[in-house]
Amino acid sequence: MSLKSLSLTDNQQTEEDKKLQQQVKSSGAIPKHIAVIMDGNGRWAQKKGNIRLFGHKAGVESVRDITESCAQLGVEYLTLYAFSTENWNRPSAEINGLMRLLVQTLRNEAERLNKNDIKLVTIGQTERLPGKCQQMLEEVIELTADNKRMQLCLALSYSGRWDIKEAVKNIAKEVEKGNITPDQIDDDLIGSFLSTASVPDPDLIIRTSGEFRISNFLLWQLAYSELYITETYWPDFRRDELYQAIFSFQKRDRRYGKVKNGHNKSMSASVINQIRS
Ligand code: IPE
Ligand code: IPE
Ligand code: MG
Repeated sequence: MSLKSLSLTDNQQTEEDKKLQQQVKSSGAIPKHIAVIMDGNGRWAQKKGNIRLFGHKAGVESVRDITESCAQLGVEYLTLYAFSTENWNRPSAEINGLMRLLVQTLRNEAERLNKNDIKLVTIGQTERLPGKCQQMLEEVIELTADNKRMQLCLALSYSGRWDIKEAVKNIAKEVEKGNITPDQIDDDLIGSFLSTASVPDPDLIIRTSGEFRISNFLLWQLAYSELYITETYWPDFRRDELYQAIFSFQKRDRRYGKVKNGHNKSMSASVINQIRS
């Protein structure tokens, strides 16, 4: 079976996959926002005796499969880390190859994204990308602007520190103009100055290729995201493993620094009783 035939449009979805998705949906909450550090393309290719770019090309198939399965499951936001600020330090041949691949992929996938009612947006310093990339991105963003089913956000020339740095600069400018006072700077205000302003923080962050680090991704936004790290290289990460990641997410107890669900009130009541006695 070719890699291409593994990715199916909605009406081609297998009965088995529909059943699996039903199981995922009925076993707990579907994360509203999933963010992915798509890592391991180069190692995947090298293991097969190929050049790194071969891995990036294969990674596009995973992007399509994960995007479509997330939309089918009812995920509202999917953010994919595609190119970091630090990735500009790679050899120019790899960077050029990645940029060409981005243009090709946008061209090939635009119609399908649109048919699937998926809206494309970006975060990051896209003005640093070659003109052709910027132009294709603008076209697909415009084409899909009214789509409602899911928002696919590509992080391109992105880093969490850049995002925070820009927010700090813009907040400082507003303070300088007298539009806000330093006392008004709180979590919500900072969040509203980040590139993800209109998007809820990720519920689940997936990193492929077994690395246990954030690599300058959404530093502010990941404060309480659940982590799922897998050894699988990105080109091998497909919907079956996405379902495993969501099953794992559904078993988590998200405490946000509090005590276990429902225990906060009873704890304080018992503390009061102890003090009284
Ligand atoms: C992720 O795969 C894609 C990008 C960072 C653009 P890598 O290219 O980092 O692959 P590895 O981690 O070197 O195997
Ligand atoms: C993180 O992967 C960036 C993207 C997936 C786009 P890297 O391969 O660049 O990260 P490090 O170098 O392993 O931390
Ligand atoms: Mg890597």
